[in-house]
Amino acid sequence: MIDKVLSQFTPEKVEEEVNVDKKFRYGIIGTGWIAEAHADALNLMDDVEVVALADLVPGKAETFAKNMGWDVSKIHFYTSHKDLIDNEELDGVSVCTYNATHAECTIYALEHGVNVLLEKPFTVTLEEAVAVCKAEKKSGKVLSIGIQPRMDNNMKEIKRIVESGELGKVYYIRIGGGRRRGIPNSTFIEKRTAGIGALGDIGVYALDMVLNAIGNPKPLTVSGYKSAFFGPNPKYNNPEDAKRFDVDDFAAGFIRLEGGVVIDFITSWACHINTPGDTIILGTEGALRIPSTDCWNGAPGGQMTLYKDIAGLQTEVKLPLLPDRPKGLFYEKCRSFIDACRYNLPSPVPSSQIIYNQAIIDGIARSADLGKEIDIVIPEI
Ligand SMILES: NC(=O)c1ccc[n+]([C@@H]2O[C@H](COP(=O)([O-])OP(=O)(O)OC[C@H]3O[C@@H](n4cnc5c(N)ncnc54)[C@H](O)[C@@H]3O)[C@@H](O)[C@H]2O)c1
Repeated sequence: MIDKVLSQFTPEKVEEEVNVDKKFRYGIIGTGWIAEAHADALNLMDDVEVVALADLVPGKAETFAKNMGWDVSKIHFYTSHKDLIDNEELDGVSVCTYNATHAECTIYALEHGVNVLLEKPFTVTLEEAVAVCKAEKKSGKVLSIGIQPRMDNNMKEIKRIVESGELGKVYYIRIGGGRRRGIPNSTFIEKRTAGIGALGDIGVYALDMVLNAIGNPKPLTVSGYKSAFFGPNPKYNNPEDAKRFDVDDFAAGFIRLEGGVVIDFITSWACHINTPGDTIILGTEGALRIPSTDCWNGAPGGQMTLYKDIAGLQTEVKLPLLPDRPKGLFYEKCRSFIDACRYNLPSPVPSSQIIYNQAIIDGIARSADLGKEIDIVIPEI
């Protein structure tokens, strides 16, 4: 009897200890800005060694390693993802290239038996994402999409609240976020390298916040809009960047999902309002307001408010803000990927979920080009 009672307090799964003797051999493809965040996180892990780096720009990977304070004699450098994959025995790679080469680098790594942590957005088009998923399925390897706001404690709360049933059946979501002025530069603003603008870059976070919370229902139709009134305008952007700018800086969409939920979506790198607004989730028994941030990067900008009728009274409760993850979100994102590879765990941010996010982004872009609502069709993987 006592055993039976005590067993209720025994965790179902005891975490295996990390074997620090066998180092996890890691490579990074694309050694630009965000690769630094991956490298900083990997530096905190005793059981991981970065053995190879690749960047298309000759010398860039070597400079990156030196700036990280790494021993360059222990690292191999390449100027293409193919050479890196062909010449190294790797347990995993981070694909930190600009969006336009996400698919080709990831497919090549998976086809050669290497696990992949792929930076967001998943890809540029749905077609590319489907090709990546097919390669992943064939390979049996781990693919995780690098959407680190998922690891944030307050983001997890959103999902927990929806799943608790406090909101009843969720039927309408308005996505907020976006920026009054926050146009990036470098490789983010040209189709050749970025493929898409704000829609993919920060839209992916806004969509994941709510899709993940409501269990990733399949998107059915979308009516999309996109524009670029700020990026190419030297009045609002650096004149040199304005000349190169050929992606969107604003997008909106109305999306119908399986199960009768609709999403009213808006995102911007620039517009004439301080923020497009808070994210709101409306359910039959309650609602949640998630404040935006000034420069949207995918996490709640302050305390969330939960609205409910209690004993016939319309009440609202400000929820406590939870603390940051102690080692940071990039640590969590890289660690969860490596643990999935090491211990045969499911992918922490699986492509099977993010394909819906990509399908919506792709749908908004295509619908905007066509000027009408379209069906979202996701081919069999
Ligand atoms: N998760 C986040 O918070 C976050 C933040 C910023 C950027 N990102 C994402 O990270 C990616 C990279 O962004 P960035 O700011 O580091 O860009 P970046 O332009 O600074 O770096 C990308 C690098 O990839 C290299 N590259 C491209 N194709 C390659 C290939 N086939 N083989 C080897 N190298 C290749 C380029 O030469 C470049 O140096 C983008 O997809 C972006 O959306 C994510």
